[in-house]
Amino acid sequence: MSERLPVRVLLVGIGGYGQTYVNALLDQPQPERACLVGVVDPYAERCKRLAEIQQRGVPVFSSLEEFQAQGQAELTVISSPIHLHCRQTCAALAAGSNVLCEKPVAPTIQEARRMHEVARRQGRFAAVGYQWSFSPATQALKRDVLAGRFGSPRRLRTLVLWPRNEAYYARNNWAGALKSAQGDWILDSPVNNATAHYLHNMFFILGDSQGRSAMPVRLQAELYRANPISNYDTGVVRAWTADGVEVLFYCTHTTARLRGPEYIFEFERGTVCYDTVSKHVVATCADGARQDYGSPDDATTRKLWDCVAAVRGGAIACDVEAASAHTLCMNGMQESADPAGFPARMVSRQGEEGARVTVVDGLDTALEQAYERGVLPAEMGLPWAVAGREVDLRGYAEFPRA
Ligand SMILES: NC(=O)c1ccc[n+]([C@@H]2O[C@H](COP(=O)([O-])OP(=O)(O)OC[C@H]3O[C@@H](n4cnc5c(N)ncnc54)[C@H](O)[C@@H]3O)[C@@H](O)[C@H]2O)c1
Repeated sequence: MSERLPVRVLLVGIGGYGQTYVNALLDQPQPERACLVGVVDPYAERCKRLAEIQQRGVPVFSSLEEFQAQGQAELTVISSPIHLHCRQTCAALAAGSNVLCEKPVAPTIQEARRMHEVARRQGRFAAVGYQWSFSPATQALKRDVLAGRFGSPRRLRTLVLWPRNEAYYARNNWAGALKSAQGDWILDSPVNNATAHYLHNMFFILGDSQGRSAMPVRLQAELYRANPISNYDTGVVRAWTADGVEVLFYCTHTTARLRGPEYIFEFERGTVCYDTVSKHVVATCADGARQDYGSPDDATTRKLWDCVAAVRGGAIACDVEAASAHTLCMNGMQESADPAGFPARMVSRQGEEGARVTVVDGLDTALEQAYERGVLPAEMGLPWAVAGREVDLRGYAEFPRA
């Protein structure tokens, strides 16, 4: 195919986050870069711009198979529910398409490895949509970490207090769920969905080359549940990489207050911080030098355009293998702890009918203190806290571990 022809893009899942890709493609300033050859969604009417898609003559399908029976894409962008990622990614790759799959990779490490293997076998790429990893800020920071500018990494910490209300949990039939009605793992949680970016980001920064992540080798987690869901809505973890770097992550959907993401990455000769007030990644070196890397939230659709360009040749910032460190950690967290409840007196429902948030009194302060001190809640002696089991992830092949 000529280099000048637009890349043929298929969108799978257009009703939720997938609308971001619909907007990017319908509004693209350079239409010669990419053309939308179809959309797949069994509930396509959920997409606010469906009428416009149809007016432009873009065909709408209710399944990937239906599209594949008559058409071919060069790039398939998957924004469907988490438990469909592996199946749809592998089917698109098998049909000769490259893939940009939304984060997280998949519910289980065995699915992530299958996706990586099929991409390798087919000679196509399978990118994962962690937008921070595609951002110039994160890319530049990673280059400096790899060049040894700050010395060896010691301890990385991230805090995300993100209240999510009942509308969030009611937006589909898989939010907060362990399994689908068909028995497939979903493992939806703040760790595996809304705040996944920020856990992934720590392993990504620690990777031994620009496009790789460090893998966790052992961890201990604590999981808690306050909403009426089958999985958890608060998760904390201390993980270790093979190089002995400590990775601490604190996230919840059950606080009244919003804070984060914020991070503090400590190195031998400097500290790198990000906070949502300045929204910039800033490094302070031991010799007093300061570097502002800018915001990792700039250019959120860069991942799409990088993948469009990569179809014609070139590297992608974050592929399935790099994004699998998060999946391994997330699976390990599920192995480490069963979700514990909070005492009833700590839990209340706050806000307007239809948008009520389940709030655990004092949880925001507890997680903030744990983050500041680099400890887990159970190590602070909090009466509600339940320590998880230590999990060794070396040789971990399948969730759940037999
Ligand atoms: N990168 C980000 O910042 C970001 C933000 C939000 C969500 N996401 C990710 O996007 C994905 C979707 O999440 P969501 O919150 O939009 O979910 P959602 O349930 O709100 O929307 C999913 C869409 O997929 C459609 N769908 C269902 N079954 C399908 C099938 N078999 N084939 C094709 N489409 C199907 C649904 O009809 C719906 O339109 C998840 O992986 C999520 O983690 C990423």
